[in-house]
Amino acid sequence: MHVPKRSAYWAVIPAAGVGERMRADIPKQYLKIHHQSILEHAINCLLTHNDIAGVVVAVAENDTMWQNLSFSTHKPVITTMGGRERYHSVKNALDRLSSIANENDWVLVHDAARPCLRHQDIDQLIKVLREHPVGGLLACPVRDTMKRSDENETVIQTVDRATLWHALTPQMFRIKQLRHALQAAIDHQVQVTDEAAAMERLGLQPKLVRGHADNIKVTTPEDLQLAAFYLTRLIDT
Ligand code: CTP
Ligand code: MG
Repeated sequence: MHVPKRSAYWAVIPAAGVGERMRADIPKQYLKIHHQSILEHAINCLLTHNDIAGVVVAVAENDTMWQNLSFSTHKPVITTMGGRERYHSVKNALDRLSSIANENDWVLVHDAARPCLRHQDIDQLIKVLREHPVGGLLACPVRDTMKRSDENETVIQTVDRATLWHALTPQMFRIKQLRHALQAAIDHQVQVTDEAAAMERLGLQPKLVRGHADNIKVTTPEDLQLAAFYLTRLIDT
């Protein structure tokens, strides 16, 4: 009897940014929270999840810190060169991933700067999307009343928040489709700030999967304390 091979789940982590808004003297993904770099928290969460087969990490060409990290895993942890923008880094990582994975496997793309991811969020993403034709992303509904402004920072409209969401990561798509979508964005010189946007450009409709709001992207110095607090709670529970 022919048993079709189950799709594997891989992770891609763009970690080639400089962290300008953090204003630290090293790239923010290497700042430590509770004795581990932000990047190690992110990678370890993915690597220790049973469904994840391996990780490809895009690091900057002049990176001097990656070599100091360590991961206790038998799963592949492969690096590749980052690119000019986040989506270039993700595209490079997908190109590398294609040499070891099946092109119909799933890939979960996760920001290096999100250390508070939990297995429950990955479980949920995979459970909801495994049979989905497109894929999707972790997201959470916005809470505040939303305003649109003009160029003078004056309100011109209150936007209905019922249909607005924060896009988080991981974002999960089929390797082949996402690679194609990112290449199309690059070819047309369209800046996409997440994977879903690249898919949307092609008329595809990614699914929103509710994730925990504490899966924050560490962006400014204040976020470090917040992430440290959230991580303490995650470790304790
Ligand atoms: N990233 C990347 N390659 C780039 C730019 C960003 O791999 N050319 C990664 C970052 O390392 C980060 C993720 O994309 O993990 C999200 O980007 P962001 O939070 O904007 O990080 P930075 O670009 O490093 O920060 P900033 O925009 O403040 O400089
Ligand atoms: Mg950036």
